Amino acid sequence: MSLNGFASAESTMRSSSPRQGVFHERRRALYENGPLVSLIGFGSYRIGLSPGLGHPHCREALEYALRRGVNLLDTSANYGNGQSELLIGQTLAKLVTEGHLTRDAVVLVSKAGYAQGNTLELVQQRERDGQAFESVFKFGSDLWYSLDPEFILDQLSRTRARLGIECLDVLLIHNPEYMLKAYEHNNIPVDQARSEFYNQLEKCFAALEQAVAAGHIRAYGVSSNTLGATTDDPTSVSLQRLLDTAKRVSAQNSFKVVQCPLNWIEVNPIAVESADDQDNTLTLARNNGIGVLVNRPFNAMHEGGLIRLTRPTVDADQVVDEEQRKGLQNWSRLSNDLERMAREYISTPGYEEAPLSQLVLSTLMWQPGLSSVLCGMRRKNYVVDAEQAAALPMLVNADQVIAQIYQDLEFHKAEN
Ligand SMILES: NC(=O)c1ccc[n+]([C@@H]2O[C@H](COP(=O)([O-])OP(=O)(O)OC[C@H]3O[C@@H](n4cnc5c(N)ncnc54)[C@H](OP(=O)(O)O)[C@@H]3O)[C@@H](O)[C@H]2O)c1
Repeated sequence: MSLNGFASAESTMRSSSPRQGVFHERRRALYENGPLVSLIGFGSYRIGLSPGLGHPHCREALEYALRRGVNLLDTSANYGNGQSELLIGQTLAKLVTEGHLTRDAVVLVSKAGYAQGNTLELVQQRERDGQAFESVFKFGSDLWYSLDPEFILDQLSRTRARLGIECLDVLLIHNPEYMLKAYEHNNIPVDQARSEFYNQLEKCFAALEQAVAAGHIRAYGVSSNTLGATTDDPTSVSLQRLLDTAKRVSAQNSFKVVQCPLNWIEVNPIAVESADDQDNTLTLARNNGIGVLVNRPFNAMHEGGLIRLTRPTVDADQVVDEEQRKGLQNWSRLSNDLERMAREYISTPGYEEAPLSQLVLSTLMWQPGLSSVLCGMRRKNYVVDAEQAAALPMLVNADQVIAQIYQDLEFHKAEN
């Protein structure tokens, strides 16, 4: 049996009023006239029903987050080969049955585009049967990608089934820049690649408008790791061009949400000078009533490596070899430096004792134009930490704080 309904501005306002806690009290519209969402959303990459995907502590964290008022869940058809959506569906059904939640109190965001695991088998079977999906890009034996509207709609129906819902609040095309990567790999000129890319997205958007009309989704959008990247990056995605594409499909379109990484090292969505568009992504989104979700607040990608923007969670006595000891020392030094910089630039009182994770979350969640920060809070103590961050005083100069920290970072200086 699947749950009826969807989140709206009215239902999310109604559901928050009788409850206590900062995830209820501090909410903002996901997009213009859209449902209200908590300032921090539950990111569900690397969660699922098997022990390898953190079960049962991830289930506990998810249930705890929902009970505390986190009402935005971000997932994808490919997270844990569908297990992330299944776990969310089971947890939601349990809390609804127990009377703790209603379906319309929670905003569910999922994504489609990747063909991995079971989905890859399905795509390959279609190819063998002579009914291959179109716009399929092959990145090796275990990762294919497709922007065929039929594939996107097929994925949507599986997502709704796994989540146990009739209507998904937001479906995002997941990292469509894979198409641009494939074109780059095949030496197709960038202008031609971009023009074909937005044409293909136009076909997907048209199909998603039909899904809106059928009541299968409320809104759609794009999640891209290269949204707002400089034009010289052949895989960059432009919000202005996405908006123009959606307008070509319909003047009254339901293209409402974008998602991209934002942290102290990856600043594309707020960096005016680096954006392809005239305004930076957050400003452009705000001026057009589009919601922006940002991801990877603590997982910063830099030159192919990953920098964790939290205090070390490993005890020195757990470290077994010299390399790990050095790694831990570097991590500790970096987190101390980052904390010191943030405190120097945050003038709002109340942040004196906040740990690095809370400083990071606060500087992101108070960026003008941003709807919510997606956080991989797959342990209960991370939810507690996020709730404390959301309760800190509002930061009025969050954009300047990040700009100043970014200017100070040695990584950035090394690049210039
Ligand atoms: N292209 C896309 O659409 C895309 C890309 C990336 C992410 N996302 C979405 O965004 C969500 C967030 O991104 P993410 O999970 O990759 O990165 P993240 O939120 O930066 O979290 C990274 C890791 O930080 C640790 N962590 C989380 N909260 C913490 C806290 N309060 N204190 C200390 N450590 C903490 C966890 O590590 P451990 O697990 O090691 O404990 C977590 O896995 C994802 O779950 C996903 O829903 C979407």
